[in-house]
Amino acid sequence: MNRFEEKVVLITGAARGIGLAIAERLLSEGGHVFLADIDGDEVERAIDRLPDDDAARATPVTLDITDQAACQRTFATIDEEHGRLDVLVNNAAILDVSPIEGLTIERFREVTRVNLDGALVCTLAALPLMERSGGRILMTASIMGLYGSPDAVPYSSAKGGIVNMVRALACDLAPRGITVNAIAPGFIDTRMARLPDGGHEHDTEYFKTVYLEYRKIPLGRTGCPEDLAGPAAFLVSSDAAYITGQILVVDGGVTATF
Ligand SMILES: NC(=O)c1ccc[n+]([C@@H]2O[C@H](COP(=O)([O-])OP(=O)(O)OC[C@H]3O[C@@H](n4cnc5c(N)ncnc54)[C@H](O)[C@@H]3O)[C@@H](O)[C@H]2O)c1
Repeated sequence: MNRFEEKVVLITGAARGIGLAIAERLLSEGGHVFLADIDGDEVERAIDRLPDDDAARATPVTLDITDQAACQRTFATIDEEHGRLDVLVNNAAILDVSPIEGLTIERFREVTRVNLDGALVCTLAALPLMERSGGRILMTASIMGLYGSPDAVPYSSAKGGIVNMVRALACDLAPRGITVNAIAPGFIDTRMARLPDGGHEHDTEYFKTVYLEYRKIPLGRTGCPEDLAGPAAFLVSSDAAYITGQILVVDGGVTATF
């Protein structure tokens, strides 16, 4: 399929993990993709590993999504080069594990500044360009934005904010021909799933017993970044023209259980 031929796309947090998997999928379907990340060197290395044909349509961007002026400059450059923006994927975020005992308002603001405000900063900067021809905005939410879990007040608050930001933005932007949706991943095997001590959450005995052996994840495995690529590509494709304000949960069935 070449659903994204002639389409101009920007994905944040695209140096690795889920953002990179989405970028690879849209590139493989013909898109011109700007891979934006705060870690510009890692983006360059990711593009170096792509097939030549896809790498030729991939542009690295060093971008901190909390920096409003930098976001505006990025979309101004895309305007100069392409004159359009068809797809914006607000995917960048940071992990946070905050037991309530030590939680400070400063930490809460730090996490929500990136994981919630950052998506809006980027969206507002992209709008003047995107609204010229309409387009698709996709956010990466989380099942932690739909349900509570321990030690996660800042992260869950930010992701819950993303969930309802998607719905509110969908109402505001529909008249401009822009749809706004989200994917909500479950347990996905990326660097974000690392524990503070460097270990992997998915390797703990608790996780293996409860989530895999007793099938708290009904499909019996953790997800990989590529599991998100197809659902994301669908939501930003023309096939999803009549879908807006929706959250597509991609979690192997975790939230189907209780
Ligand atoms: N891995 C999971 O289990 C999981 C589950 C649910 C939701 N998510 C969400 O998926 C998205 C992607 O996460 P991932 O698992 O691929 O993690 P990751 O840590 O591999 O990727 C996140 C990327 O965002 C970038 N980033 C962080 N702060 C940034 C900033 N201020 N500006 C620009 N880029 C920034 C990082 O450099 C990194 O490349 C995030 O929104 C995350 O919250 C992940």
